[in-house]
Amino acid sequence: MKNKTRTILAIIFSLTVFAAYAQTNNKPTGKPISADLFGLFFEDINYSADGGLYAELIQNRSFEYSPTDKKEWNSFSFWEYTTTGFSYGTIAVETNSPIHPNNPHYAVVHAEHIGHEAKYTGQPGVGIKNMGFDGIVVTAGDTYKMSLFARQLTDDPISLTINLQTPKGKILAEQKVTTTSKEWKKYSTDLTASERSDSASLVILITTKGKLALDVISLFPEKTFKHRTNGLRADMAQALADVEPKFIRFPGGCLVHGDGLGNMYRWKNTIGPIEQRVEQKNLWGYHQTAGLGYFEYFQFCEDIGAKPLPVLPAAVSCQNSGGTWRIGGTGQKALPLGEMDDYIQEVLDLIEWANGPVNSEWGAKRAAAGHPAPFNLQYIGIGNEDKITPEFEERFKMIYGAVKNKHREIILVGTVGPFPDGEDFTKGWTYANNLNIPVVDEHYYQKPEWFISNLNRYDTYDRQNAHVYLGEYASWGNKLKNAIAEALYMTGLERNGDVVKMASYAPLFAKKDHTQWKTDMIFFDNTKLCLTPNYHVQKMFSTNQGDIYYNNIVTNTDSTTAASCVRNSKTGVLIIKIVNAGSESKVMKIDLTNFKNIQLNGKRTLLAGDSDAENTLQNPNAIRPVESSLKLSRKFDYSAPPMSLSVIRIESTH
Ligand code: AHR
Repeated sequence: MKNKTRTILAIIFSLTVFAAYAQTNNKPTGKPISADLFGLFFEDINYSADGGLYAELIQNRSFEYSPTDKKEWNSFSFWEYTTTGFSYGTIAVETNSPIHPNNPHYAVVHAEHIGHEAKYTGQPGVGIKNMGFDGIVVTAGDTYKMSLFARQLTDDPISLTINLQTPKGKILAEQKVTTTSKEWKKYSTDLTASERSDSASLVILITTKGKLALDVISLFPEKTFKHRTNGLRADMAQALADVEPKFIRFPGGCLVHGDGLGNMYRWKNTIGPIEQRVEQKNLWGYHQTAGLGYFEYFQFCEDIGAKPLPVLPAAVSCQNSGGTWRIGGTGQKALPLGEMDDYIQEVLDLIEWANGPVNSEWGAKRAAAGHPAPFNLQYIGIGNEDKITPEFEERFKMIYGAVKNKHREIILVGTVGPFPDGEDFTKGWTYANNLNIPVVDEHYYQKPEWFISNLNRYDTYDRQNAHVYLGEYASWGNKLKNAIAEALYMTGLERNGDVVKMASYAPLFAKKDHTQWKTDMIFFDNTKLCLTPNYHVQKMFSTNQGDIYYNNIVTNTDSTTAASCVRNSKTGVLIIKIVNAGSESKVMKIDLTNFKNIQLNGKRTLLAGDSDAENTLQNPNAIRPVESSLKLSRKFDYSAPPMSLSVIRIESTH
């Protein structure tokens, strides 16, 4: 019965696409493929979120860093005690009366004496200083939004001087604030930088005697992506927008199922005012503030026209918890069955939060955050590469059943282990097909040669079984040859776009000097991006997607060349992709005779170069796509340069 529903849906989908297509084109017919094929996968790994895409410039803004994150860290990590002008006092961390129980630690600065020595010409005071994530970058003339929570612990109002300064103490921007409350209160001010610095600090100086509690000390560039508050670093977000992804999977990866049950990523902890979110250890060896939380992920997806694909834990923790990957991944823990009702409700609440009306309990919270319209959530992933154990299976089935019962409109994505084959892969697939899960998430990281020799992997997949989301894949490396091997493989994904519904390269971002996973799509530091050849390949495929696939338009391929041809049924544009992973140029035959309504000139984007070439932060453009126009005829030979991806776009005549 379930198979039957799937088949009927597939037929309706095919007929709809064909009908739309046939109206404008009588010939030729192609195969309908997924219109959501290429997207992105974002995980907070390699400092991708805090210190990366999330534009917050203060590190450890809420004094929640702890040895749980990293042995040597504590509440004052990345803060310095500072006194000026012969002033003195103390600082301490307290927990007895926090802004919110989710945010227990705060700093207490006691200014016992403010120096007034005639020989000191600066601003005397007692305070704290934050160096951000390897220095705060400010641009001359740009404004930075500073906010903090303060609570007077002594009777009189307390004066603060807040400034941005260089490592040598040169003041780049300064404002004064006076406290007015013995309760927690938020104070905000704008700091406009007088000159550029890559290594500025934010200093909060108490300039009158007194004792003050401080928390959630935050600094954002005014120019975040689309000027969103609590927003994203503009250049990083723009690089993702430029890919025009059809979807974004988030927030992980292993981050989702966590290092033990207590570390699972629970979406409810990541919404609401930032001072009320639950911070926690990031299993990749640092800290996550959850400042980039579910609201921000959904908002970003909407901002760039991508469908959100949140992944929730399958109520089990990572099998590698506690570092047990060294001894065979024996660390999976399962939520007690007695907690499953609540957990399932948490999953259902996400759907209400994303799609429910503003007068529903969770829809109201979305509206309160500034988004009354629904987010149109369509996909949810359950689990990530989990070990397929009886505990996993039991819990997954409970979650799956509950979502299916209440929300037939939601497409659930299952998980089939971390490898392209093997025990969890086989068990996962059998389990998925028995349960009639609509889509499963395959992951694999392999050598480039693997991608070349597995180009036909999906040709033989049974179309009656679950469909595939290739949620994580990459060839080991960021050289051009890696990217071209991936491009070759991606033509196979397009060819099989009737069964492979979605695909996303992984991981996405990696920060210089804070990288846990070496092969990534975009490297960055505080000021620059390095878009790898792998990024360019992803972008070239993603911005050139179609929903109809045509066979045999490009012929003469061999073991190191491949091609695909798709058409966008809405715009009529025809797109040919040709990949040559060999070391010699290769002539391919292109036959367009059956396409009547096309213009006989095209736009070619070419990515080519030395197989070992790569981009770096110092030389980010060694490999980049080059555009040119191309005169076409109905039948022509195309010479594909060695180690290249060519994308040829041919517009329709109407
Ligand atoms: O992409 C890096 C990691 O690889 C992901 O967190 C995990 O899902 C996979 O093992």
